[in-house]
Amino acid sequence: MDRNYRSIAIDGPSGAGKSTLARLAAQALGFLYVDTGAIYRSVGLIALRAGLSPGDGDAVAALLPGIHLELCHGKDGLQRMYVNGEDVTGELRRPEVSSYASGVSAIPGVRAFLLDMQRDIAQKNDVVMDGRDIGTVVLPRADVKVFLSASPEERAARRFEELKARGDGSSYGEVLAQIELRDKNDSSRQVAPLKAAEDAVFLDTTGLPLEESLARLLRIIRGKLGL
Ligand code: DC
Repeated sequence: MDRNYRSIAIDGPSGAGKSTLARLAAQALGFLYVDTGAIYRSVGLIALRAGLSPGDGDAVAALLPGIHLELCHGKDGLQRMYVNGEDVTGELRRPEVSSYASGVSAIPGVRAFLLDMQRDIAQKNDVVMDGRDIGTVVLPRADVKVFLSASPEERAARRFEELKARGDGSSYGEVLAQIELRDKNDSSRQVAPLKAAEDAVFLDTTGLPLEESLARLLRIIRGKLGL
């Protein structure tokens, strides 16, 4: 008989520190870290390369049967994404890909196409999976569900510092406006909107240093798992 694998669902808005915290928590627990945003980004990249509009649901959906997506983990525990055998990991954080990922993630056919892939990983591994609808749609029976957030101002400040370090000239006000708009879009879209599962534990990282956020996250997870 298959052993029962444990799953930790971490959802929340962009910039709340989900991916860093989920990765570090997975490392501390010896679980596999699954970044579901990278899967949506891969589909966004495919639509971008095909010259499609990310809002053209029919055209994007028509591409899906020809796509073989693979998610692999190296010895370093880091996730890499392959599209039809090509490692596309290095392309996924490009700003155009972010905007395409956001567009294609609102297409119902795309979400349905990616659902089994995400569930399949959780059936074969202990996972910490981060995204927007993990606790509500992908793994409704996850052992632990955490909704991670931080104030829009704090998320904007973190993103602003990141962009500045990369030489981007956006002002703090512009970054904050983008974050507020994205929050509104993510929470109001028809398909799998960003919302906390009823049984999620809330963790607000506003004003907390990374180590403290991680300590709190691990306390929640270990408490729920009885570790
Ligand atoms: O977390 P991220 O920024 O890498 O996500 C990229 C995009 O994919 C983002 O616009 C939200 C979307 N996404 C989603 O709709 N559902 C998920 N489970 C993960 C990401």
